Amino acid sequence: MSKNQSFRFAVAPMMDWTDRHCRAFHRTLSRKARLYTEMVTANAVIFGDRERLLGFSEGEHPVAVQLGGSDAEALAKAASISADWGYDEVNLNVGCPSDRVQGGNFGACLMRDPALVAECVAAMKAEVRVPVTVKCRIGVDDQDPETALDQLADAVLDAGADALIVHARKAWLEGLSPKENRDIPPLDYGRVHRLKQRLPHVSVSINGGIGSLNEVEAQIAHVDGVMLGRAAYQQPELLMEVDSRLFGEEDPHNDAFAAVEAFEPYVAAHLETGGRLHDITRHMLGLFTGRAGARAYRRRLAMEGVKSDAGIDVLRAAVDEVRQAEARRKLVA
Ligand SMILES: Cc1cc2nc3c(=O)[nH]c(=O)nc-3n(C[C@H](O)[C@H](O)[C@H](O)COP(=O)(O)O)c2cc1C
Repeated sequence: MSKNQSFRFAVAPMMDWTDRHCRAFHRTLSRKARLYTEMVTANAVIFGDRERLLGFSEGEHPVAVQLGGSDAEALAKAASISADWGYDEVNLNVGCPSDRVQGGNFGACLMRDPALVAECVAAMKAEVRVPVTVKCRIGVDDQDPETALDQLADAVLDAGADALIVHARKAWLEGLSPKENRDIPPLDYGRVHRLKQRLPHVSVSINGGIGSLNEVEAQIAHVDGVMLGRAAYQQPELLMEVDSRLFGEEDPHNDAFAAVEAFEPYVAAHLETGGRLHDITRHMLGLFTGRAGARAYRRRLAMEGVKSDAGIDVLRAAVDEVRQAEARRKLVA
């Protein structure tokens, strides 16, 4: 597969959402989507509980770790540990606007310091053989995106970055919450398309506000890859057509019932080792969205799935709500 094709479609890194169970679920729905961890700080990787922070299942490949930080030495060490752990890519976060992150001088505020980001990328590249990539914004605050994005891109590419993922809006670091910073600064897809035109040999992926595979296909005409965040998490069924529509390969399952069935052994294994059903099913609430019985499915998982002794039967009963509601609807039609 060409370098560009491996970045063609990805599910975004999302704190508290894209943990290993979420990724295992998404992997059941698409064999090809590139999956990202939640952001983990370089120091957490170095000093923290690695199994908890970095652990993943073999079936999750291709899987990328996203690191946060701005200390080149620490990032290099964390990148090396992550690569040894088996990650297929190390991504650096230059887009997160949270106060906590700004306090540590990393995330989106690094858009103002391309030289420092380049130093970090060069240090990471020196330690690992897997691709080192950067996820950034088009700018922050009063920066002019035309120059800010080019400067950041050129600096990290000179330092050896293998691909860029651009969230196509600014981050406004004063006065907006991280959540507002994902919605309020206007999207500017044209800016990312122009970056790609200027850098024909670099893999450029676009992210932000893309809600369907039709939109993904429209974007692919302009860039190498598309990264979906909220839409993929909230309507995971759309992942079930990624392999055929974007990679020309067979989809792993042709309906969500079959996908859940295929995922059951993963759930059972988690329960057997003392894990809770809710650890996994909290990431499955968006499945069946828009279908008859979807609300009853969610209610069951939310009410019964959270109990500490909830077993796989709760998941099956929740799915049955959809099956039965669809059968009832057919009968009436
Ligand atoms: C709950 C949540 C957590 C997020 N955490 C991260 C993160 O850890 N690292 C990161 O680079 N972006 C993070 N993001 C931003 C997403 O990766 C993505 O850039 C953003 O949601 C825009 O894409 P979308 O419109 O497709 O959701 C997060 C987004 C959400 C909704």
